[in-house]
Amino acid sequence: MKNNSTIKEVLSRIPVGSEVRVNGWIRTFRNDRFITLSDGTAPQTLQAVIEASHFPSELIKKLNTGACISVLGDIQSSPAKGQDVELQVRQLEILGEADSEKYPLQPKKHSLEFMRELAHLRPRTQTFGAVFRLRHHLAFAVNKYFNDKGFFYVHTPIITASDAEGAGEMFAVSTLDPLKSPKTEDGNIDYSQDFFGRMTNLTVSGQLEAELFAMGLSKVYTFGPTFRAENSNTSRHLAEFWMIEPEMAFYELDDNMDLAEDFIKYLIRYVLEHAPDDLALLEKRLAEEEKSKPQDQRSDMSLVEKLNFVLSNPFRRVSYTEAIEILKESRPNKKKKFKYLIEEWGADLQSEHERFLVEKHFNCPVILYDYPANIKAFYMRQNEDGKTVRAMDVLFPGIGEIIGGSQREERMEKLQEKMKAMHIPEESLWWYLDTRRFGACKHSGFGLGFERLVQFVTGMTNIRDVIPFPRTPGNAEF
Ligand code: 4AD
Ligand code: MG
Repeated sequence: MKNNSTIKEVLSRIPVGSEVRVNGWIRTFRNDRFITLSDGTAPQTLQAVIEASHFPSELIKKLNTGACISVLGDIQSSPAKGQDVELQVRQLEILGEADSEKYPLQPKKHSLEFMRELAHLRPRTQTFGAVFRLRHHLAFAVNKYFNDKGFFYVHTPIITASDAEGAGEMFAVSTLDPLKSPKTEDGNIDYSQDFFGRMTNLTVSGQLEAELFAMGLSKVYTFGPTFRAENSNTSRHLAEFWMIEPEMAFYELDDNMDLAEDFIKYLIRYVLEHAPDDLALLEKRLAEEEKSKPQDQRSDMSLVEKLNFVLSNPFRRVSYTEAIEILKESRPNKKKKFKYLIEEWGADLQSEHERFLVEKHFNCPVILYDYPANIKAFYMRQNEDGKTVRAMDVLFPGIGEIIGGSQREERMEKLQEKMKAMHIPEESLWWYLDTRRFGACKHSGFGLGFERLVQFVTGMTNIRDVIPFPRTPGNAEF
């Protein structure tokens, strides 16, 4: 390891003439002379130039795509197009061979679908290198944003006994033997004999616990994995995804919207500033993907233009009621082009409706608020109209819903009534209700789907391509 340099260091700050050792993986080896070396530290590769006659031919034969090598030599200006420097190799060592017959990544373009089958090798490729470096930058920026604003990071539990969203899409956690599980008198599984002495599941959201902490530390956020056993095979759903959930005491819905907008814009600005090369690489990829689409479905904006567009326009704030009026009167609704036609107030919005509003009608990010109470979770604050709650969804072009949040119901009686109506037993959430019993206050929060954000920033169309090892129905390889 000593005195090694990364490709990022070589390209950014090591002067020409210096001697360096670089380790990395071979992308290509051409004309018995030029090695394209990658170590993932930068979007760029390093050209290592060797004089084949100076090395044993046995060694040269092993310079295959995929092999891991260590090279020592001098950095010099490069006469080649597209690179300022190259490495003139004096010493060459093969650290790990790769059989060129068997290595699945050939030096050519592979489809994203093909690469999903080889998720363990995706980090070796240019596209995924850029995606995952950007994912890192975004995660770092999330923590930086909240830290700079006085929020505390709370690690909410992964195993819980509650279903925060009430959608019943939970993965059970149990150590009981499914073939010999103990039974209660009425024949059900006796979870009192299970590991936790009760039924438990993987969390669908850290919100309820984040609320408890906001009631003591004022402004907090949780950022962790969440799990949903919904059987949706779409390009925007995962069974395991990461969610960022800030929760703020004394915030009302407008404050919540302001924070959500400021937060997303900060994250986008951060990557534009800190990872322009990775964005440029993905912008090129996206432009090529666009070329293969029919003319009328192509986006007229490049990736970076889309990001700048979000930065320079305020998100449109539209009530659910206004949105329903727009959708009812819309062309695709009248021409019966929507799969789910909007007939009346109260309809749940599908992603086709969300995308119509964002991509066709308003043509900018939209925050929808004040949704019908009966299509939203129990914890949202009821409005005076008796039918809507202080919910907000942030909708993004190409993505649909990227954030879901609300002002929370802090009034004990209202919350109890709601839980009763939704058949949520009070005993199961006594600790949650305690924060309303003792020192309740107005508060709000939201959840940003991290992968959906990474999708938007990288321009990757499928959510499976922005998480290292996607979990989806029927798929938990790797
Ligand atoms: O709208 P959701 O279900 O909201 C909550 O879970 C709240 N408890 C958040 C809060 O107020 N603290 O989910 C929030 C976001 C969605 O807007 C979406 O971006 C993402 O999480 N999301 C998913 N992302 C990938 N795969 C899935 N299956 C997702 N389900 C939700
Ligand atoms: Mg939602």
